[in-house]
Amino acid sequence: MTINPVFTDAAPVEPVPPAQQFLLDVVEGLSARQKYLSAKYFYDAAGSDLFEAITRQPEYYPTRTELGILDDNGPSIAAALPRRADLVEFGSGSTVKVRRLLKHLPDLSAYVPVDVSESFLRSEADALAMDFPHIAIAPVAADFTRPFTLPDDLNGEAVAGFFPGSTIGNFEPPQAARLLAHFGRVLGRGATLIVGVDLVKDSGVLNAAYDDAAGVTAAFNLNLLTRINRELAGDFAPTAFAHRAFFNSRASRIEMHLVSLADQTVAVGNHTFHFVEGESIHTENSYKYTVAGFRTLATEAGWEPVSVWTDGAGLFSVHALRRG
Ligand code: SAH
Ligand code: AVI
Repeated sequence: MTINPVFTDAAPVEPVPPAQQFLLDVVEGLSARQKYLSAKYFYDAAGSDLFEAITRQPEYYPTRTELGILDDNGPSIAAALPRRADLVEFGSGSTVKVRRLLKHLPDLSAYVPVDVSESFLRSEADALAMDFPHIAIAPVAADFTRPFTLPDDLNGEAVAGFFPGSTIGNFEPPQAARLLAHFGRVLGRGATLIVGVDLVKDSGVLNAAYDDAAGVTAAFNLNLLTRINRELAGDFAPTAFAHRAFFNSRASRIEMHLVSLADQTVAVGNHTFHFVEGESIHTENSYKYTVAGFRTLATEAGWEPVSVWTDGAGLFSVHALRRG
């Protein structure tokens, strides 16, 4: 079962405008036998706010655990990064994590947050610029899976990358390897990359993290239908779908689905899609790795594992990788 579309390494001859690409991806995904949508479309302004709310749920351990690792190991993680560098964060979101690193990087030259959620990106970048006036903040609104260029006025002596949150887990392993290789090309030779990776654990803990009692993850999942209605003239009734999340231990991933509660036909622009009761749209995978498993993946993608930090309970890992 595929979920995120395979991304290309080469720039398309005629780049497709984002709104048109969204429609193409939705039509392709809803036409498949197992219907699917790409998880990157969760993040409109409402989706970014809902993700932030997820990170505050008691069941969602990844954010507070990764923050704990960054706090407990700040100086050694910072020491893995080159001096006077430009730091590029892929999928920067609320920037709460990079703030923990910036404290230990007094001579950082520039910080480049890259995110698809443009209004959220701009407001977070403005807030960061106020709090860290000595660092050049250069946001880039882009899909990091596609070719994009870094600002050309960066003056750092080296380039480093930061990819926290286990966003790497939202890609199937072969795509995750291609994404890491793509980041290697974006960052250049000799670059260092700090990556946050969620670890395999008890399925009860995982299932609860993706189906919190307050229903915030459900709202995040269902917001995708509201976004399609608004941006692509869809007529989804979000109440006619239910959030479902479960750990697929064979594939070592959480799967999120939206399950149709009835036989129904839904329009998106000029297209119609039929659902039988119980049929689902697969909206997200969140792969869970072992430390060794992730190191193997990184090595296959051309990165050398240098260091790894974990929390005491072994819930989450932060890796330093270097590119030859
Ligand atoms: N790094 C933050 C946010 C993680 S949520 C943290 O660790 O808490 C994932 C973030 O990646 C969101 O901000 C989302 O908008 C962004 N994102 C997801 N897919 C993306 C893509 N293909 N290109 C750029 N940003 C993406
Ligand atoms: C951004 N990403 C790593 C989150 C995750 O845990 O896979 C997105 C998320 N989906 C549901 N809850 C959080």
